[in-house]
Amino acid sequence: MIIDTDTASDDAVALVLALTDPRAQVLAVTVASGNVPLTPAVQNALYTVELCGADVPVHAGADRPLQRPAQYATDVHGQDGMGDIGLVLHGREPRPEHAVDVLIDLVRRNPGEITLVTLGPLTNIALALRKAPDIAALIPRVVMMAGAADGLGNVTPAAEFNVWVDPEAADIVYRSGMPLVQVGWDVSRKDATLTLAEGDELAARGPLGEFCVRIQRQLVEFCREVTHIDGFDLPDPVTMAVALEPAVATRVERRYVVVETSGDHTTGATLVDHLGVTGEPPNVDVVLAADRARFREMLLQAGAARAGR
Ligand code: BDR
Ligand code: CA
Repeated sequence: MIIDTDTASDDAVALVLALTDPRAQVLAVTVASGNVPLTPAVQNALYTVELCGADVPVHAGADRPLQRPAQYATDVHGQDGMGDIGLVLHGREPRPEHAVDVLIDLVRRNPGEITLVTLGPLTNIALALRKAPDIAALIPRVVMMAGAADGLGNVTPAAEFNVWVDPEAADIVYRSGMPLVQVGWDVSRKDATLTLAEGDELAARGPLGEFCVRIQRQLVEFCREVTHIDGFDLPDPVTMAVALEPAVATRVERRYVVVETSGDHTTGATLVDHLGVTGEPPNVDVVLAADRARFREMLLQAGAARAGR
């Protein structure tokens, strides 16, 4: 597995899920600008990898979207992306190789074997596809936290954050011909929200569980005030759960999906042709529901794991 992430609070939980799961061999964590600028996103990834006691290289990638100015989500995840709880996040160095080169190299060296999990804007993946179009045919599964199958956005009425930040990159990926699995914000909202009591239960499982919950401090505020959830939703972790265990996706429909790159009000929307009206061949396995109970179990297991398994 390669994990591409704009590491902030929910990305970090997804990393904990993967890095503590004995079924996953994580070859690299590649980082892009998104929730926070590139440098703090890299620091957050390094901190989380170290906390898990994992020997996994972290590589910095794109520091901005392909064509647009960078946009961040510090209102959702905190200024440092990790809930501003006072973690000492500096002092660690990523590996020197650029994330895009590492993506290309690892895919070429492991043809047909890599699951690529994307948890942020798709800038690094689009850059890799532009530089090395051959890799599209070498990746058997791409599981993306991206878009919204029901058309309800979380940044604009139409667009989900990861796609909205870099719609041109998302457009390249959605048209790439790679076997794509979309886990959208709709799935997170319906099936991957923890109540505060469920958060307490996770935190009580062990140091990793406590970390996973404490760093959501700003997200909990955001959910209370903006999305009116008494708890917090975990879009990247449920995406990772689907990547680790495909049966977590309980309803999946293969559909034609396009990304809006030039709408007056809809830039960054993912348009799912639910009724097949375009007649275009389907390009995405769209996840419409997830097994909430199994997802919670996986979180609790990761929360109880000991570092350096
Ligand atoms: C996505 O945007 C970020 O805030 C989260 O990390 C997640 O990847 C949800 O729209
Ligand atoms: Ca993310």
